[in-house]
Amino acid sequence: MCGIIGYVGFRNARNIIIEGLKRLEYRGYDSAGIGIIEGNLHIYKNVGEIENLEKSIPQIDGRVGIGHTRWATHGKVSIENAHPHTDCNKKFAIVHNGIIENFKSLKEMLERKGHTFSSETDSEVIVHLIEEKYKGSLEEAVKKAIKELKGSYAIIAISQLEPDKIVGARNESPLVIGVGEKENFIASDIPAFLKYTNRIKYLNDGEICVIKNDGIKIMDLNGKEIEREENLIKWQAEQAEKAGYPHFMLKEIYEQPHSIMETMRGRISEIEPWINLEIDFDGMDEVALVACGTSYYAAMAGKYMIEELAGVPVDIELSSEYRYFGKKRRTVLAITQSGETADTIGALKEAKMYGCKTIVVTNVIGSSATRFADHVLLTRAGPEIGVAATKTFTAQLLTLMLFSLYLGMKNGKLHANEIKNYVAELKRLPSIVEEVLERENEIKEIAKIIHDKNTVFFIGRGINYPIALEGALKLKEISYIHAEGFAAGELKHGPFALLSEETPVIALASKDRVYEKVMGNIGEIKARNSPVIAIAEEGDEDITNFADHVIYYPKLSFPLFSIPIAVILQLLAYHTASLRNCPIDKPRNLAKSVTVE
Ligand code: AGP
Repeated sequence: MCGIIGYVGFRNARNIIIEGLKRLEYRGYDSAGIGIIEGNLHIYKNVGEIENLEKSIPQIDGRVGIGHTRWATHGKVSIENAHPHTDCNKKFAIVHNGIIENFKSLKEMLERKGHTFSSETDSEVIVHLIEEKYKGSLEEAVKKAIKELKGSYAIIAISQLEPDKIVGARNESPLVIGVGEKENFIASDIPAFLKYTNRIKYLNDGEICVIKNDGIKIMDLNGKEIEREENLIKWQAEQAEKAGYPHFMLKEIYEQPHSIMETMRGRISEIEPWINLEIDFDGMDEVALVACGTSYYAAMAGKYMIEELAGVPVDIELSSEYRYFGKKRRTVLAITQSGETADTIGALKEAKMYGCKTIVVTNVIGSSATRFADHVLLTRAGPEIGVAATKTFTAQLLTLMLFSLYLGMKNGKLHANEIKNYVAELKRLPSIVEEVLERENEIKEIAKIIHDKNTVFFIGRGINYPIALEGALKLKEISYIHAEGFAAGELKHGPFALLSEETPVIALASKDRVYEKVMGNIGEIKARNSPVIAIAEEGDEDITNFADHVIYYPKLSFPLFSIPIAVILQLLAYHTASLRNCPIDKPRNLAKSVTVE
């Protein structure tokens, strides 16, 4: 999983590419490199963050170039393994995102033909194949080379033999073209060039493009030219930047009142039909939800919502398991913030093979998942750069709420009055999240209590169980504190052994039908001397008899309360990580979208 970018135009390519790579760093950041044509091909690479690369390379004046930020899959983190990779004679250079599954056999074949390799990567075979196939046209050589590849790739190639062009190709890894005036861009994701243009063209799997400063040509693998419409992106460049916050994560937490409004825009109304999702209703009598990580916890929460509000039975499956062991259900709904997670794309493909109706809930227009699914429900949270999912998680929860209400309305489980009440409550959500954000200082105080602990537990029942799991994931991924989430009733079946005065427990105690049970569980924990921090509904005085500290959220009914609780847990994780001086936006060993299996 990596970020790639190419530029051809009238500006200094080095600077454009370095800037673009910084916007793509969320896709991987263990090493980086650029290739610039200025007479000859010049390659510069370094390990670590883009800044290391930037500091180590000279100002060079080429107008054509490519860049890469890497998240290692084949071969250790080293300068040799960083991209761009070059052929034996240093005439061609490529950057690649994806995995070439048959690279070993290709490498052996190329070595037998006399090619010398200088890295351990799978990617390097691509540039040697191009060298092998080159007969005077870079696009023809790329076309012939990719016909031999098995696996996933987004590739950008340049050559000093044809210094006016870049060639791109894609299969199962993202690649999007930015259309400019006398300049053009290509990259893994739009923020890489959004500062310069919001006009884009998507490249599909099995397509290749030739990009010059004055034109873009898209072709299929037989060379047939394809007319591709231009899309206008409404995100502003500054939306993809930190806008004054110390971290993208905090900015994205604070964007939630707005993102929640966007998720609901045009989908709810106070008059009939109340909820409108524009998905046909066939096959919705049984649903499987598939996802990974945070999106999987949204799926778990979705099960509670769909079963309770629509009375439809739901399976929940981790995408990586579903691909191989999943059961056939008439409708399969995949949840993926990025739309590029390889496990989830694999699950979607599997579901399609079974003949299921497929729906994807995603945040990224034009992402791979949107191309495979029959229906798309966009979460509309805007770009999320922090590796830790925040606003995209609450947008997923909200989309699943709308989906459940829509289903319950369509199948007659919910009465008009119930739906109207939900719509009225949904409309209050943005301001309720504002209120929760105003409690940041209180949450900071709680972060001071947990920031020096080795283990933190999170407990909840019903929908608060997956929210507890997500709270634990958030804390562990950015603060590196060991954290675990449990169904509150499960602690006594083993994890109790770990409780001590040094093990804080965050208890999610909403006033729902399992409230009394959660109180009982808190009592059991207190009897073992662990500090309890409760997250509870405003007006709940009883909780203060049980918990050492309470963070309140405004009263809301099921399942809406899961959203303010999730926001509190995000702020708690953020401030704990901040007190520990962790690299919040780029936690070690993680990347924003996981495009390998
Ligand atoms: C959570 O903070 C992580 N970013 C991770 O668990 C993520 O949710 C998972 O990798 C799935 O990503 P997706 O939603 O883009 O498919």
